[in-house]
Amino acid sequence: MQIGVIGLGTVGYGVVDILTKEKKRLEKLIGQEVVVKYGCSLDDVELPNGIIATKDYKEVINDKDIDVVVELIGGTTIAKKIILEALEAKKHVVTANKALIAHYGKEIYQCANENNCHILYEASVGGGIPVLVSQKESLVANNTKKITGILNGTTNFILTLMEKDNLDFNEALAIAESLGYVEANPALDLDGIDAAHKICILAQNGFNQFIDADKIQCNGIRSVTKKDMNYAMKFGYRIKLIAQAKKLDDGIGIDVSTSLVNKEMLVANVMDAYNVVEIDTDYLENVLYYGKGAGRYVTASAVVSDIIKTHQNDLWSHEYEDCQNVQPITKAKYYIRCSKPIDVDYIEYYSKQDDHIYFTKEMELEDLKPLLEQDSVYFKVHG
Ligand SMILES: NC(=O)c1ccc[n+]([C@@H]2O[C@H](COP(=O)([O-])OP(=O)(O)OC[C@H]3O[C@@H](n4cnc5c(N)ncnc54)[C@H](OP(=O)(O)O)[C@@H]3O)[C@@H](O)[C@H]2O)c1
Repeated sequence: MQIGVIGLGTVGYGVVDILTKEKKRLEKLIGQEVVVKYGCSLDDVELPNGIIATKDYKEVINDKDIDVVVELIGGTTIAKKIILEALEAKKHVVTANKALIAHYGKEIYQCANENNCHILYEASVGGGIPVLVSQKESLVANNTKKITGILNGTTNFILTLMEKDNLDFNEALAIAESLGYVEANPALDLDGIDAAHKICILAQNGFNQFIDADKIQCNGIRSVTKKDMNYAMKFGYRIKLIAQAKKLDDGIGIDVSTSLVNKEMLVANVMDAYNVVEIDTDYLENVLYYGKGAGRYVTASAVVSDIIKTHQNDLWSHEYEDCQNVQPITKAKYYIRCSKPIDVDYIEYYSKQDDHIYFTKEMELEDLKPLLEQDSVYFKVHG
């Protein structure tokens, strides 16, 4: 197996390192040589002996001996071009690129099918957590009913800091930034866009339907205050950025919402930069996947597994239908903080100075919105 790794940043270096260190064991596992032939980067890079450094990805793709092209550049322009060209050149492709798979999966899978090649993207969701392979292979007896996840480690880290150290949002964000946890474009993390890409991919796999990633509504964590954090804790909840997808009779309910999660639920106890995916199925019932969702070696672990998997002849099917009805999940219990009492059916009500706190009964958001003043804050409640 001859491999070309394109993009030698955080993850790319981890992949080259693991493949170098674990070479003998992996070769024994699949009964053939595992060779990283190229490392492709626009920068000058140092690579282990024997790996050809190139700045031109075409050199990798045009090499007839290359079996697997690994795209670890990120973004949706040049990365898409590389992947499509690699597939057209009959190379198997491995990527960690969630934005690309969420937005252009349909075109990429079609190209992979036409060229009889693997397109594997385990690292695009939950970093190293083997959840996509499980959906594709281990859950086939089941129909997926619902998928719930904490899919963005950065926001979970910020929310954990706010809770544990009683920090406000900006203080916690500054710490996350100083540790290099926040994407160059912070909106991807803070506004739930990254989590939306990941729930889109999980939902595609779980429901065998293409979901237009642009239609996924996101309500990120920027509006969470110390007050909300303290009220959530007082009533036995944690605030989490929850990505959810649910099979409806006539489509898919899917969204990313800052939510209060009952502390009794396993998902509420996922702290720091950890991720979790909970899949609700008909026969297996609930199954949880938990682990680190980012980091050099964590992510490279999933990429290397995918590379080795291209050794198998069986390709994953990507015969999905287009989902015609993508909508947010708006029927829910809600937490409301407002400055005046409102007329809403509630499970809990509490007031202190100018704060009126409601935990509503399950209701439609369109029935709640007319009751709220401009300064009201509302989040979904789970459990
Ligand atoms: N980091 C994680 O923990 C993590 C977790 C899950 C998934 N992912 C995904 O993994 C992918 C890679 O992420 P990363 O964190 O490793 O990114 P990164 O550190 O920014 O690395 C990307 C590398 O690609 C290089 N590059 C850009 N254009 C190129 C081109 N045309 N040819 C060759 N190299 C090029 C960049 O070089 P310059 O710096 O010179 O532009 C950079 O070194 C992304 O899709 C990301 O979403 C990352």
